[in-house]
Amino acid sequence: MRRLVAETRIHPAQLVLPMFVAEGIDEPRAIRSMPGQVQHTLDSAAREVERAIAAGVGGVMLFGVPTAKDAVGSGASAPDGILNVATRFLAERFGDATVVQTDLCLDEFTDHGHCGVLDERGAVDNDATLERYADMAIAQAEAGSRILGLSGMMDGQVEHVRTALDAAGHLDTAILAYSAKYATALYGPFREAVDSSLTGDRKTYQQDPANRREGLREALLDIAEGADIVMVKPASLYLDVLADVAAASDVPVWAYQVSGEYAMVEAAAANGWIDRDRMIAESLTSIVRAGADVVLTYWAIEHAQLLGTHGLGAPTTGAGR
Ligand code: PBG
Repeated sequence: MRRLVAETRIHPAQLVLPMFVAEGIDEPRAIRSMPGQVQHTLDSAAREVERAIAAGVGGVMLFGVPTAKDAVGSGASAPDGILNVATRFLAERFGDATVVQTDLCLDEFTDHGHCGVLDERGAVDNDATLERYADMAIAQAEAGSRILGLSGMMDGQVEHVRTALDAAGHLDTAILAYSAKYATALYGPFREAVDSSLTGDRKTYQQDPANRREGLREALLDIAEGADIVMVKPASLYLDVLADVAAASDVPVWAYQVSGEYAMVEAAAANGWIDRDRMIAESLTSIVRAGADVVLTYWAIEHAQLLGTHGLGAPTTGAGR
């Protein structure tokens, strides 16, 4: 009866798997603060994408972990930079069997770890960064990325990248705007996942967790600039913002269940303090209930497999308890 009247269901195609591909490693490397997640080699990434496709996962979002970094993040736009190499490799191999997407941001590629280039005072230079994003966008589109995830939170980034893509003939490359992206402690494990060099914080360009209206405003601005999809990030602690954006948006609304949301559940479960499977199902159900059309989650494959087994938004093992 509960299954029959459930208001929220999740389909595997609504889940997108974020993946880290590292340069210069021969074997996948475990990420300590994200048990079960690894930095991939090209080959292990291909095997993981195969598993994702088999489970019905909607797409993959790629992050690059380069061996060399510099002040302007040259590796981000270089055709032989790890993210572009991985994108080309996976896009050619899998074609339309999945949707290969890329994170478009400089932080993994800069030696100072910021999402943009710095001015002489050491502050992020918004407009100089837009030029770098345009170069990155063209490199990623040429490598075969279908959706560019603009996660740097620079003002005007959507319009700037859209204009550059169109001018280069990449009319069909879509823009996913990380619109409401908060400066949160929940990105902690991700910083390990990408070997981040950041020492300060991102409070001059990411949003204040105190601000709800501003989240909606950022999303509406991105839609006006031409975003094809808008995203709220993190997910679980920002469901109010997600619901606001979902109510107002006329483009798809996605949410990113970030590294810290993953790590907290895995850590509590490893200690036997929480029912892991129910937590995963409940967290994803809540994010979709709040209005997400698609969720980026490190549990994408596992949860898609579970849904394939049960055809439910929650495991049947939990339902009768
Ligand atoms: C920026 C980016 C970050 C995440 C996704 N894209 C890190 C940041 O803004 O500091 C975090 C994702 C996660 O925590 O899972 N390239």
